[in-house]
Amino acid sequence: MPVLTFQYYMPVKIIFGLGVLSRVGDEASKLGSRALIVTGKKAMRELNILDKVIKLLEEKNVQSVVFDKVEPNPSVETVMDGAEVARREKCDFVIGLGGGSALDAAKGIAIATTHEGSIWEYVEGYPKRREITSKALPILAIPSTSGTGSETTPYAVITHKGEKIKDTLVSPFIYPKVSIVDPEIAAKMPPRLTAYTGMDAFCHALEGFTSRNSQPITDLIALDALSRLIRYLPRAVAFDGDMESRVQVSLAATEAGIVIGETGCTLCHAMAHPVTAHYDVPHGLACALLTPATLRYNLRSSIEKYAKIAQLFGMNTSGIPVREAAEAAIRLIEKFISDVGINTSLAEVGVKAEGIRRMAEDTLKMGALKNNLIQPSLEEIEKIFKEALEWKP
Ligand code: NZQ
Ligand code: MN
Repeated sequence: MPVLTFQYYMPVKIIFGLGVLSRVGDEASKLGSRALIVTGKKAMRELNILDKVIKLLEEKNVQSVVFDKVEPNPSVETVMDGAEVARREKCDFVIGLGGGSALDAAKGIAIATTHEGSIWEYVEGYPKRREITSKALPILAIPSTSGTGSETTPYAVITHKGEKIKDTLVSPFIYPKVSIVDPEIAAKMPPRLTAYTGMDAFCHALEGFTSRNSQPITDLIALDALSRLIRYLPRAVAFDGDMESRVQVSLAATEAGIVIGETGCTLCHAMAHPVTAHYDVPHGLACALLTPATLRYNLRSSIEKYAKIAQLFGMNTSGIPVREAAEAAIRLIEKFISDVGINTSLAEVGVKAEGIRRMAEDTLKMGALKNNLIQPSLEEIEKIFKEALEWKP
């Protein structure tokens, strides 16, 4: 009998579907009376979604204050500025409206408003990390990308711009109380953003499926997310206005968030954070371009699971040795990256061979690495970076 021991905890109320944004007033009124709406600098205002949310809140007598200063890969300073506003304006909960960056900044602000010191003292890798407590403000999340899964995770990724390090806040107290996932909002994404964020979700499902902490329930959800992405992500990238594919990809991203909330990410994400911190490569693109090399490194630890992925792509694996099917899965994933329109390499987007040593050192400090079934040495990580640098779909 295999040893089967696991936990499964997912306390987020997920409201999913086209048009569900209309429920934000009702849901917000159960969390508080004065919201800090945390959003990016442009997209949500330009798409008229910010105004719509403010109006829907007013209709249910929820007041709001807008903090629209979140940059992609939110910084410590942005989080601290937002917390200052939340305190000054006496907000009793936060609404994250936007991509993963806005959602993560909202989570950081929910902590920093009610906890002492800098938010950086609370990230996973901080020596003598301070404890995140239940004092964190309640969070309502409205994702506008279909990627990070922040709407269903207990994580927020924050960047220390000075040290060029991305690190993660991890706490059950930053699971959103409610997430409103309306694919109509993500349907506004241009093709490239759709591809990058969709590949982020793909990597979450893939890494979660092969994580040291994977278990039957997360495996089920991960496989479901992967099949939806395999079928619909290329369509969502290619056809404007194809709502069926947008709904499917949104659902897959939210599912993949549920998976990593429990399993964590693995080697690929541990390597992707330094790439973004040092070279400003969009998160999903960094993950996509690191996937083939990390899959090859991890192959021996997850042969059966890779073979299963080959089947998801429609390959008939009966009669084929499992190792061959597993290797085929890597080739199918490489082709998939090209099918979603990604046609560049890390080297082409500015990552330099001279930076590999430092990125490999940073990778070793990432919490996600512990979830990888096999533990690479510094030299091995450098080798994987070298292989990934020139890889191109
Ligand atoms: O800056 P604004 O004006 O808001 O515009 C954004 C931003 O420039 C724009 N955008 C967002 N939704 C849009 C849109 N444009 C048109 N239509 C829409 N519907 O897209 C740009 C990128 O947004 P961003 O939020 O940075 O992208 P993403 O959603 O990929 O989030 C990335 C961040 O999430 C973190 C990443 O590390 C990164 O910081 N992650 C968070 C996780 C979590 N909390 O669990 C897990 C992930 O692995 C990931 O690490
Ligand atoms: Mn990610």
